[in-house]
Amino acid sequence: MDGRPLLFLDSGIGGIPYCLDFSLANPGEPVVYAADRLHFPYGKRGKDDLVSIVLSLMGRLVPLVDPKLVIVACNTASVSALDGLREAFPGLPFVGTVPAVKPAAAGSKKRKIGVLGTERTVEGEYLAGLIRTYGNGCDVTALAAPDLVEFVEHRYTGSGAEERRNAVLPWVRRFRDAGVDALVLGCTHFLFLRDEFRREAAPGITVYDSVSGVSGRAAALFDERDLRAGVPPGAGKKPGLLVITGAEAPESSWLRWADYLGFRLALLEDM
Ligand code: DGL
Repeated sequence: MDGRPLLFLDSGIGGIPYCLDFSLANPGEPVVYAADRLHFPYGKRGKDDLVSIVLSLMGRLVPLVDPKLVIVACNTASVSALDGLREAFPGLPFVGTVPAVKPAAAGSKKRKIGVLGTERTVEGEYLAGLIRTYGNGCDVTALAAPDLVEFVEHRYTGSGAEERRNAVLPWVRRFRDAGVDALVLGCTHFLFLRDEFRREAAPGITVYDSVSGVSGRAAALFDERDLRAGVPPGAGKKPGLLVITGAEAPESSWLRWADYLGFRLALLEDM
């Protein structure tokens, strides 16, 4: 048993759906969520830049948080820096979040799949490798949607149904025009729009994501390595912690997220 927290990392709010999914299935597990808003958006950065940002952030967080496992709840950071993280922190298990190419390629009858991600993810070597290994010979249309990342990060809260629908529609249209019947949400921010994607993509296009795969992988590692906190049901758990980088004072949008999650908000600089 291990009462240390599980650490989630993203450039912003993208990892929150992953954090909620995991926490729902594993109540009693203490959680820290780190949002590197100072370096948002990750998707516009080159690989070397991103590797050094993520490694140095982890170098600050690990001694402060002492996590038992890290979920890199960001495709962009995972495809760029996962190897570097594992090398730099041997003994600390990392679960990455990468586009769900394998199930999408297995499920595609037309053998045409789409991947929607950030520039860094869709142009990077990691996705090309995933497609070679798990693409099942499918044609892959990979598109970058930086505007959609910005929409989720800055305008999702408070947006109306019509606005959300209009945000996903042009992307669904492009994939439909490309003839795909399987669409991978390859950026964690897009999980906030999963219902909209599913609605607009039906009929004909099935939407895939990595949420349950990531939670399942983390839970399996918990069991393999005896990492569960072992809090008895109903005993209550430590409140989570939401850490943000680069802010001089708690910002109202992040205070609202902390409130929504029931987490305490901390500025990395003050920890
Ligand atoms: N949420 C991140 C991902 O899954 C990236 C967003 C960004 O560009 O910072 O790729």
